[in-house]
This record gives sequence, structure tokens and C-alpha cells, in this order.
Amino acid sequence: MINVKSEKEIDLMREPCRIVKETLEFVGSKIKAGMTTKEVDELVERYIRASGAIPSCLGYGGFPASACVSVNEEVVHGIPGDRVIKDGDIVSVDLCAYKNGYHGDAARTFLIGNVAPEIKKLVEVTEECFFKGIENLRAGTPLYDIGYRVQRHAESHGYGVVRSYTGHGIGKEMHEDPSVPNFGRLGTGMRLKEGTVLCIEPMIALGTWRVTVLDDDWTAVTQDGKPAAHYENTVVVKKDGVEILTL
Ligand code: MF3
Ligand code: CO
Repeated sequence: MINVKSEKEIDLMREPCRIVKETLEFVGSKIKAGMTTKEVDELVERYIRASGAIPSCLGYGGFPASACVSVNEEVVHGIPGDRVIKDGDIVSVDLCAYKNGYHGDAARTFLIGNVAPEIKKLVEVTEECFFKGIENLRAGTPLYDIGYRVQRHAESHGYGVVRSYTGHGIGKEMHEDPSVPNFGRLGTGMRLKEGTVLCIEPMIALGTWRVTVLDDDWTAVTQDGKPAAHYENTVVVKKDGVEILTL
């Protein structure tokens, strides 16, 4: 069931979404080679709490940290720990904040120092995939048009679209209906209503789109060990387009 939000609810969602955006900007200004992923998580937790919000990921389904921090071949849901970030790495940071009774959710992939051109391009195209996904998105758009546009853009560069994780609705719960795949056929799926709030989050791999979950039961890695990137925002479907709440 899709919880369409009223104007009032969307106003309440602005604050957690703004905090998510600011936290990611803060992380972007601090993250560097030599830090551990655990140190990145500490920055995230401190910033979210100092903003008067709660880190929604902490304890969600047993997840042990405030942010998912995924390095290189780690696609999503990396558990922060002792892994040291190195020059040339790419680091995806995905986080959620809860305030006013609502969640906000976004992710960025950060370039650490001197990243190989081929990998930098992957990160750029992943971000572009999000913007392709929201092109033409407005009230009445069929749901799977989003994934169709993401997939077309990613595959035009020869990249793999990760299938086993998707975007999602968001609101009082971090994950609400509908599921928003990053692949699909144009003109298919339910027609989205005005006031639907979605997290659109392309996860794009340099090589194979096939992933494996590690023994920690969370960290998803590419099966070929090649890097993957992640980019996510929370958006509201409006009559004439979308509003991005986490930008
Ligand atoms: N922010 C993630 C998402 O996009 C949620 C991560 S799962 C968690 O859906 F357990 F870490 F919270
Ligand atoms: Co999400």
C-alpha cells in the first residue's frame, strides 16, 4: 500500500531530509585516505544527533551502525569497521535521519584522492543515472519508467545495474511501498500519484551486476570484485515534476 503524503506531511519530511543532505556534505568535507570506515560512521552519528535527529539505520533489522559505508567492490550496506580508506578508493555513504516522525534517506559516493579515470567515470554516470531516472517523472508516470531510464543510461556505458536491491517509498517508515527497481520496461507499473515520496537509488557496477552478501549478513559485494557506485535522493512526486528533498 502506498502512503501518499499530504502537503503537511511533506513539510515535516523536509527537516530530516535536510539533515541527511547536510550530514553527507559534512562527511564529504572530512573523508580522506587513512580514515577507517568506522571513523566515517562516527562523524555521521555525531552530526545527525547534533542536528536533533536520530540515525535511522542504527539498529534497523539489527544493522550495527548509523551509516552504510561501502568501499570499492562493496556495493551497499557496508558495515563500518576497521577497513582503512586508501587513496584511489571510492566510498559510498548511505544514511537516514529520523525527525518530526519521518525519515529522510540519501547516499553519495565519494572519490578519495587520485581515482582512476575509469572509476571516476562510473561515479559520475551513477549520479547521472539518478537524474535520468527522474526525467519526465511527475504525477501519472508509470513506476517502472524510472528504472527503464536508469538502466538505459547505465548500460549505454557498458555498466551493470544491480538487481537485488531497489529504491523504495519512505515516510513514517524508512522502507515503504513501492519498491523502485533500477531496471524496467517503459510504460509499465502503477501510475504514481502526486504526493508519493520515493527514494531513487541507482547502484551501478563497473563489471557484473551480480552481487554476493558477505558472512556479516549485510555487506553486498560485486561477484567480480570490480567497483560499484551508489547515489540516492528522497524525492516527492508532484503534478509537474519532482522535488528533491535531499539536495
Ligand atoms: N539507507 C538504506 C536504504 O537506502 C538503508 C540501509 S539498511 C540499514 O534503503 F539497515 F542500514 F538501515
Ligand atoms: Co534508500
